[in-house]
Amino acid sequence: MSKLLKVVAFNGSPRANGNTAYCLKRMLDIISDKGIKTELVQIGNKKIEGCSACRQCKDNKYCIKKKDIVNESIDKMRESDGIILGSPVYFAGMSGNMKNFVDRVGYCFRNNCDKDRHNDLYRKVGCGISVNATGGAANTYSQMNYFFGINEMIIPSSVYWNLVAAYEPKTAEKDKNAMFTIDRLAENMVWVMEAVRDKKEKTN
Ligand SMILES: Cc1cc2nc3c(=O)[nH]c(=O)nc-3n(C[C@H](O)[C@H](O)[C@H](O)COP(=O)(O)O)c2cc1C
Repeated sequence: MSKLLKVVAFNGSPRANGNTAYCLKRMLDIISDKGIKTELVQIGNKKIEGCSACRQCKDNKYCIKKKDIVNESIDKMRESDGIILGSPVYFAGMSGNMKNFVDRVGYCFRNNCDKDRHNDLYRKVGCGISVNATGGAANTYSQMNYFFGINEMIIPSSVYWNLVAAYEPKTAEKDKNAMFTIDRLAENMVWVMEAVRDKKEKTN
């Protein structure tokens, strides 16, 4: 029996039911239809402090700031095979909460590498979706890919970059090209995760 796969998605918007949430839920619906466990975590509507650069996470696996959602999110990432980041575009970049989140989570993983420099995100599958009104989505998409790309993660892709155009809440669905891109991204993510799992099971 193959291992049951899991995907966790993080929404960097303060709107728990906004456009980013819609896109993430849409992806997770497709992924769970393929028999994969899914979870959506709201990080945009919670207080998340920035990284203090104290480096106390070095060889400790967790952030020293224990009051917010960061450490439990690190555990959720460790338990998952796939990770999705979704952010609205704020002044041409990711939301402040998503940035604080990525800085702290990323530093915790990278400060806890094994002797071969792998950390716990090694060969997990990760992708990002960014939602803007009119500009900055490509930059934000790149920002999220930097997180995956520095942690030896595998990034699935789609027929276009994962950019959505929507301004008013609950209008993302109207961007038909983006919806096609997101649906295909979900399918490709599942394909890659299953291939990675099969390969890992063969080699172990
Ligand atoms: C503080 C702030 C900054 C924003 N900056 C941009 C921007 O630089 N470019 C843009 O196209 N839209 C910008 N927007 C619009 C949001 O990206 C857009 O409304 C998006 O759909 C919000 O997603 P959500 O519903 O998931 O929160 C900004 C919105 C806010 C609140």
